[in-house]
Amino acid sequence: MSPYALTRTLAEDATGAALRADVLHGLSSTPKTLPPKWFYDARGSDLFDEITTLPEYYPTRAEREILLARAPEIAAATGARTLVELGSGSSDKTRHLLDSFTQLTHYVPVDVSESALRGAAKLLLAEHPSLAVHALVADFTRTLALPATPGPRLVAFLGGTIGNLLPEERAAFLDSVRALLTPGDFFLLGTDLVKDEATLVAAYDDAAGVTAAFDKNVLSVVNRELGADFDLDAFRHVAVWDAEREWIEMRLRSAVALAVKIPALDLAVTFAAGEELRTEVSAKFRREGVRSELGAAGLEPVQWWTDTEGRFALSLSTVPST
Ligand code: SAH
Ligand code: AVI
Repeated sequence: MSPYALTRTLAEDATGAALRADVLHGLSSTPKTLPPKWFYDARGSDLFDEITTLPEYYPTRAEREILLARAPEIAAATGARTLVELGSGSSDKTRHLLDSFTQLTHYVPVDVSESALRGAAKLLLAEHPSLAVHALVADFTRTLALPATPGPRLVAFLGGTIGNLLPEERAAFLDSVRALLTPGDFFLLGTDLVKDEATLVAAYDDAAGVTAAFDKNVLSVVNRELGADFDLDAFRHVAVWDAEREWIEMRLRSAVALAVKIPALDLAVTFAAGEELRTEVSAKFRREGVRSELGAAGLEPVQWWTDTEGRFALSLSTVPST
């Protein structure tokens, strides 16, 4: 394999069809919703990276602390020769794993954002010239065709991105992760933990307004890709903690009554004044919940680590040999 390859499993027209289907379904639903994967065009990926540097957004710093402390243990426990990372984005924290994984020969970052994958691969290859990087532009909620690479394989899903899936989507996703693994392979999962409401809401409604810009970026994507005429200034970003479901909801609230045209769908959508569009859930977890969701997918817990303040957890699980 050459040191760098990029495979697109998301054909442009398939992506367009998926966006049209999601927007049609989401904006015809009550309440209105859009799936969070459409945040991440090049600008959305850059805005997410900016979020990770904000004082209020603790998850990235907390997960980095765990990775820095535990990467050698993870390398020793897994002996991984291939690292597959789902939703890898900038792969910034992954570098802490790569630095400790001396036995690793292949890295397979998987993301819907081609710009993020290209940026990450460029940096990684400069730092690890002998590593074969096979970037995959793909939707991790669909069946993945991974390149043939040597085992043992470690599949990593960092950042707490699993929390952006709804519970039923999470169960299907974990089943598909399990299907990628054979005995001797491992799954490394980052989960943000339940904590006080003020800390959570601040993390999703920062003072500088970067999360608000990230949230509204999904409207820019729909405007650009589907010719819609969403007026971004007519919407206010809102972050709400749902204590019962233990998730943050990001919403865009229309300040006024609005009619929006979406020519590519031949659709007109109305918003009442004050009506909200849900753009993301970000579920927060407890140890027992993570264990039981992994167990339901046939994954056996190996290790659980948190940062020193107990804000975020990394868990390592494996496929039991039968
Ligand atoms: N893992 C990184 C980035 C998290 S941001 C970190 O911990 O900082 C979430 C990433 O997942 C983005 O790069 C986004 O493009 C990607 N993503 C979101 N939904 C996706 C999907 N359905 N399939 C593939 N990638 C997805
Ligand atoms: C990618 N994901 C884990 C982020 C989160 O915290 O749910 C996305 C995000 N949304 C707002 N800020 C960050």
